[in-house]
Amino acid sequence: MKTRIGAARKPYIAVLGAGTMGGGLAELFVKHGFDVSLYDPDPAALAKVRTRLSAADLNCGERSGPSALLGQSVSGDQAEPDEGGEMNRTSPRSSDTLRTTGHFAEPDGSGDSNSAVCHAEERNVSDPSPRHRGTLRTTGHLEAAVRPADFVLEAGPELLPIKRELYAALIPALGADAIVASNTSSLPLRSLADGLPYADRFVIAHFFHPAAIIPLVEIVGLPDTRPGVVGQVAEWLAQCGKSPVVLRKDCPGFIANRLQAAVLREACHLLAEGIADAEQIDRAMTEGPGLRWALNGPFAISDLGGLDIWERVADNLFPQLSAAPDVPQELSGRVREGRVGTKSGAGFYNYGDTEAREQAAAGRERTLRTLIANKKEMSRP
Ligand SMILES: NC(=O)c1ccc[n+]([C@@H]2O[C@H](COP(=O)([O-])OP(=O)(O)OC[C@H]3O[C@@H](n4cnc5c(N)ncnc54)[C@H](O)[C@@H]3O)[C@@H](O)[C@H]2O)c1
Repeated sequence: MKTRIGAARKPYIAVLGAGTMGGGLAELFVKHGFDVSLYDPDPAALAKVRTRLSAADLNCGERSGPSALLGQSVSGDQAEPDEGGEMNRTSPRSSDTLRTTGHFAEPDGSGDSNSAVCHAEERNVSDPSPRHRGTLRTTGHLEAAVRPADFVLEAGPELLPIKRELYAALIPALGADAIVASNTSSLPLRSLADGLPYADRFVIAHFFHPAAIIPLVEIVGLPDTRPGVVGQVAEWLAQCGKSPVVLRKDCPGFIANRLQAAVLREACHLLAEGIADAEQIDRAMTEGPGLRWALNGPFAISDLGGLDIWERVADNLFPQLSAAPDVPQELSGRVREGRVGTKSGAGFYNYGDTEAREQAAAGRERTLRTLIANKKEMSRP
């Protein structure tokens, strides 16, 4: 089989898991012209993504883009190796009888009740034009999603045994040169990849919610990762407008989540000590350091304030900060009560009914897009 690493054409992408992150990842890639299969064992999760994308700024309709690739896909050809060993970019078997006719097409007897296909029409000024759209297929068949994929991105539950079981299940369907990535928030790559036959083309690609909007993706490889794999993933993600940061070493939580976790531990500590309530603590962040952090990281900020001042601050303050190794009660107590945040309607705050939550999410996404667009504009030379 020919190697696909470094190939100029756009890869076919399989996203595994259609939850908070998987839905956003599918949206991101389709908007940027990649063909995507989205797999989830839960039909309700797939239906939710289809509903959200059709209601958002992704319109589903007859594809008009000049792509032979998509043409094959819609015509229902199967993915089979050609003589040279390359896979034709065709639809997964379980969804290949589906067509779009101005809306998300529902299954029409293909035997896969979770399958549907849509084409993205992008309307946001900062994103690609409708000409550069991809195709999204949803499926409950793992093999159908994975077999045609050049890049498999796992966004399943953050539980090592579930992830490891899923990785083992990929083996029979995975192309010989397909790259696999996990979107894990916290697990080290070594614990995910150990013993897998494709461990040398397995990386971490850690996105941030909402995945279609936030630019950062942290990428982690191992010393024995095949040369070119990390660079190829970074290149694909850069094509989606992402800002990849490649870590020098595998480490749990990577960079950004370690920084966020340190802040969250201290925020919970302040709450537990009765120094301020959640709203005050959040306001202290968003009206203060949060504004600067969008422009300058902790080292640049220390330089701006003066390292001599920060030396004194660290000396006075570090002994006062929480170093508790356990999950704070402020967090785990709420989880035990089912108050897990916006997805359940309540966490540290109350979020109202589903409609109110969806409206608030859409508002946050608009604000984030504006902030990111302004930041890009400001950083132009
Ligand atoms: N939520 C975030 O802000 C965030 C940010 C960055 C990374 N992550 C990471 O991304 C991953 C997904 O997180 P999420 O927030 O989308 O979780 P989620 O609970 O919203 O979604 C998980 C999805 O995985 C599906 N699933 C269950 N078993 C599966 C299997 N065997 N194969 C494939 N899918 C399966 C579930 O049906 C569900 O739809 C986790 O590893 C998480 O740590 C989350």
